[in-house]
Amino acid sequence: MCSQEDEGYRLLKEYANGFMVSQVLFAACELGVFELLAEALEPLDSAAVSSRLGSSPRGTELLLDTCVSLKLLQAAVRGGKAVYANTELASTYLVRGSPRSQRDMLLYSGRTAYVCWCHLAEAVREGRNQYPKAFGIPSEELFSAIYRSEDERLRFMEGLQDVWRLEGASVLAAFDLSPFPLICDLGGDFFKDPLPEADLYILARVLHDWTDAKCCHLLQRLYRACRTGGGVLVIESLLDADGRGPLTTLLYSLNMLVQTEGRERTPAQYRALLAPAGFRDVQCRRTGGTYDAVLARK
Ligand SMILES: C[S@@+](CC[C@H](N)C(=O)[O-])C[C@H]1O[C@@H](n2cnc3c(N)ncnc32)[C@H](O)[C@@H]1O
Repeated sequence: MCSQEDEGYRLLKEYANGFMVSQVLFAACELGVFELLAEALEPLDSAAVSSRLGSSPRGTELLLDTCVSLKLLQAAVRGGKAVYANTELASTYLVRGSPRSQRDMLLYSGRTAYVCWCHLAEAVREGRNQYPKAFGIPSEELFSAIYRSEDERLRFMEGLQDVWRLEGASVLAAFDLSPFPLICDLGGDFFKDPLPEADLYILARVLHDWTDAKCCHLLQRLYRACRTGGGVLVIESLLDADGRGPLTTLLYSLNMLVQTEGRERTPAQYRALLAPAGFRDVQCRRTGGTYDAVLARK
């Protein structure tokens, strides 16, 4: 095999095995491996981990060693046995309660998003979300699917919050918001409920859930409620102008396909939603992080 073919094969294996890596991460979070090791007074061997988690000795040892290889755990040898501790990465991002913890987002990804992603081919074929196959909920009933139980609602909201703890500051710093004394961060049933009057409405990770038609309807409602001189701040992950990157945003767009009615959009596509609703001076700013900001004025 020539080296170009080697590279192709290596890449193919990396892509094909990507789901196994995600599952190792999700399973270790589900089982509470990182909390156990954070609370232990010293590194633990796999027998101690399996007995405290109530998990099988064989499965636990395999999972722990794979976590070491993924740099989620570190191993040392004590008395001829491997003992495990969290790495800096795990202590910072995986342990519940750490200020930068992403644990709730990972639990949500493993328990909900992943289950919908198992039906990606069907989602592409049908062009709709996969709640019916994943959870037996009709695709039209997005709200009841996403908030199908109090536990699920809380996990979803806590997962969303994990991301803002890391990325919220950069999106809010993208524009000077000081001209807007009264800011409303929109949530709840904004398609039906009366909207409070405000100078600025924040629509964070809202428009990407919906079809163009529903976005237009919502933006028209916002325009009517908005004070003159006010505006709307759309916070989303922006696609490149040609719609073919960045990869993370393309993957998020597929995530919207398997889970919602919407998609991620390019700056031009957001302009095309905002202008007909009456908004002007549309400015798009990339933050360099996962989420970007679009500001438009009334
Ligand atoms: C993805 S969450 C984003 C929450 C928050 N802005 C953030 O960025 O973390 C979507 C928001 O849309 C609201 N929403 C309104 N109608 C909805 C519906 N029919 N289905 C799902 N979410 C809906 C939810 O209450 C929730 O606040």
